[in-house]
Amino acid sequence: MDKFIIEGGQSLKGEVQIKGAKNSALPILATTLLCEDEFEIDNVPLLRDIFTMKKVLEVLGVSVKFDKNKAIVDTRGAVGYEAPYELVNQMRASYYVLGPLLARVGRALVSLPGGCAIGTRPINLHIRGLKKLQADISITHGYIDAYGNKLKGSHIFLEGPNGPSVGATINVMAAASLARGVTVIEGAAMEPEVTDVANFLNKCGAKIKGQGTRSIEIRGVKKLHGCKYEIIPDRIETGTFAIGAAITRGDIFLKKANANHITASIDKLKEVGADISIEKDGFAVKMEKDINSTDIETAPFPGFPTDMQAQFTALLCLSNGVSIVREKIFEERFMHVLELVRMGADIKKENDYVIIKGVPYLYGAKVMASDLRASAALVLAGLSASGTTEIMRIYHIDRGYENIEERLRDLGAQIWRQEE
Ligand code: EPZ
Repeated sequence: MDKFIIEGGQSLKGEVQIKGAKNSALPILATTLLCEDEFEIDNVPLLRDIFTMKKVLEVLGVSVKFDKNKAIVDTRGAVGYEAPYELVNQMRASYYVLGPLLARVGRALVSLPGGCAIGTRPINLHIRGLKKLQADISITHGYIDAYGNKLKGSHIFLEGPNGPSVGATINVMAAASLARGVTVIEGAAMEPEVTDVANFLNKCGAKIKGQGTRSIEIRGVKKLHGCKYEIIPDRIETGTFAIGAAITRGDIFLKKANANHITASIDKLKEVGADISIEKDGFAVKMEKDINSTDIETAPFPGFPTDMQAQFTALLCLSNGVSIVREKIFEERFMHVLELVRMGADIKKENDYVIIKGVPYLYGAKVMASDLRASAALVLAGLSASGTTEIMRIYHIDRGYENIEERLRDLGAQIWRQEE
């Protein structure tokens, strides 16, 4: 296992190029299963989760090769139907093969994802949606056992108690693109990654309308074909680097970043005192003033993203007042809080929110990464802290940020990877 050593206190300055969106690339790779053809998918980030998806697809009989950030996928020939526990337990998003397998082979046996560091993550909406397409699904021996030889379009309301589901919307949309007749998903997730998958499927010959709104219409087609496609930039990586600039009083240009995908975070950055200037091929974040306190509540897109909550929590630890951060999507997603407290933060957790009293500085400490975005928050805290921070279990951060330490070093950070 590797760890990061960070000598804090350097302002991040310069330019960083934003990589492709992990949460688009994962379902796009999985949905290639819907057809028997070849694909060239560009701007795929080279991450642990992507390599796990590659293994899932290979177990199913698909060939996936990489030429830098381009994935060459060949889904021709027979494919299997089982996504085993050993892979699904490494990455929940393996469940993205469920809908495509049902639509293509009429059968899917996908391990149930199990526990997760960010809280309870049910998959009832995926199952509810696919059942509405007339799939026959049961849970047996830890597996989702699904049959669906004759998927049929339907009118589906797909919201859960915490709002729409990105994963369920994508799984059902993928399966419905080869179902007979028309499917309408009401209460659909509007996240840019859902739109990206819909645009990809349309390029493969699907007939999807309304992506990016609460109601998506999918007109089933008989067959889909391969295509060339480029994944959108990662909005959460964008936001994480943006906070890197703010928390270190730096000045960074985020090349290729799409500001429209992260408006809620940009608004919050402005509120805490950052200067943002949006340009044609990205945007710049500069922080010269004190960090103002603010309140945040996570919400489905276009609201404030849960995947930016931990990073903003780290930033607000250094504000000039009191902030409240409420987590409405994954109520337990506060594993970073006690680690930040070890670095001198003043944070109190109450149910689904934390109260953060700003302190003048954080100090380096040994801390433990517990999930992807919590690890990003600890890196940000370490960059701003005085002294040395050691972050253990950084395999979590490798799941979602390509080559993070090298790219941070290029911006002036002092961060190194070492064996634990
Ligand atoms: C996606 O997870 C992302 N993962 C997550 O990113 C992200 O935090 C999340 O969307 C919310 O934006 C990928 O795209 C691979 P949801 P997903 O289904 O699809 C509840 C990261 O750090 N729900 O939109 O699994 C659920 O419990 C990760 O990159 C049900 O009730 O999230 C949550 O409260 C972590 N039943 C809410 O819906 C279901 O069947 C939204 O979850 C499914 C979800």
